[in-house]
Amino acid sequence: MNPFREGAAGKYFVGRDDQLKRFTRSLTALRNGEPAHLYVAGVNGRGKTSYLEKLVEMAREKSGVLAVRVALDGGVRAQQQILAMFEKLLRKIDEVHTEVASAPRLVAEWRQVGDSPFQLPTSERLQNDHLLQDLAYVRDVVAELGFRHLVLCVDEGERIEPYALSALKSALLELQEYLVVLSIRLAEDHGDPVRAGKLKLEEIAAAADRDMGAARLFVGGVGLGSFTPAQARRCVARRLEDNAIRFDDEVIGLIGRVAEGLPDRIISYAHEVYDRTEADEAEVATTDTFRQTFVSLHQFELDAAKALCAQSTGSERRALRELATHDVPLTPLELAKKLYTDVPVNALEPVAEALRGVLDRVGDTVRVSAGGRYLVPDAVRRYALEISMEPE
Ligand SMILES: Nc1ncnc2c1ncn2[C@@H]1O[C@H](COP(=O)(O)OP(=O)(O)OP(=O)(O)O)[C@@H](O)[C@H]1O
Ligand SMILES: [Mg+2]
Repeated sequence: MNPFREGAAGKYFVGRDDQLKRFTRSLTALRNGEPAHLYVAGVNGRGKTSYLEKLVEMAREKSGVLAVRVALDGGVRAQQQILAMFEKLLRKIDEVHTEVASAPRLVAEWRQVGDSPFQLPTSERLQNDHLLQDLAYVRDVVAELGFRHLVLCVDEGERIEPYALSALKSALLELQEYLVVLSIRLAEDHGDPVRAGKLKLEEIAAAADRDMGAARLFVGGVGLGSFTPAQARRCVARRLEDNAIRFDDEVIGLIGRVAEGLPDRIISYAHEVYDRTEADEAEVATTDTFRQTFVSLHQFELDAAKALCAQSTGSERRALRELATHDVPLTPLELAKKLYTDVPVNALEPVAEALRGVLDRVGDTVRVSAGGRYLVPDAVRRYALEISMEPE
């Protein structure tokens, strides 16, 4: 069984320590009757769903806290969105109700025609007081089951309809027993997910008759970006614990590097490497296994690297390869020091000048920063160059 399946991390969750601490603080505040609602933001595949699932698990470890994760549907009206959210929430509560009181309760009450304790299912449109009343009713029912607090982790929250957000805000301001964590998938990576998430929330709130308070309800923002190299390693290693197949240390490092620490890309490379190892009937994924996987996935980048290789002299190839093995930008002098370790530093200046000429000639493969540092900007191209420029 390939442990690198798609989907949330579950028991393989690693890292995100600060982000989890942020939630722990919110959870403590909730239990003190002062919920501090949060949002979590990141572009696709950074681990929002995994994070929310982890929060649900953490919240459930606290006594008296009932936690659920619900995902929002897109392209539906605010009213329908809230109804769908309630149904999922109630189904989850009914599971607990069945355990405790040996029968479900809330979904039936929700669907009851006439005489239902719920206001929302029969109201024409979404009204703030109906939402408030229904959430308060749910709170009272779960209290009978021994839960004093509810944590609602809302996935795909960027889809929330402006008036659904606005109504939710009005209700939550009245109810101190609920804590909401809203996940926001960002369309683009601008480097600061917390700020981008805030802007997205403000954009949604603005569309609800400029109800900016709806954005301010979320007092804390959590950003999910790439893993550090150490976390990337753990992300792979964790899934291989107790597995018959092992990955060489170097392979684990390479996966993190080529995936640039991005969780979904780490998982997808590891998935391919695992499949190949299995197909080879091998027990260990070696650097060779990784290379074969890489070659099958990145023919385009490899062809480009090989073309550049064919146009370069031996010493140019050495220089480009050295540059490609580093994930940080280097000045020509720094590169010269790495290439010619036995030459005294004061004699390297002309070598560095020559290297600068080489790097400036290779066009868009190498990028130069304002500080005069050179880098092959893309990790896939970097590794393609590294293996293409290898001495025979
Ligand atoms: N903290 C983590 N530890 C281990 N694996 C993780 C972690 N976060 C994410 N992953 C893995 O990365 C991949 C993407 O994660 P996830 O589905 O949670 O991301 P997402 O942000 O919800 O993506 P999307 O925007 O597409 O909904 C999954 O395979 C998941 O198992
Ligand atoms: Mg997700």
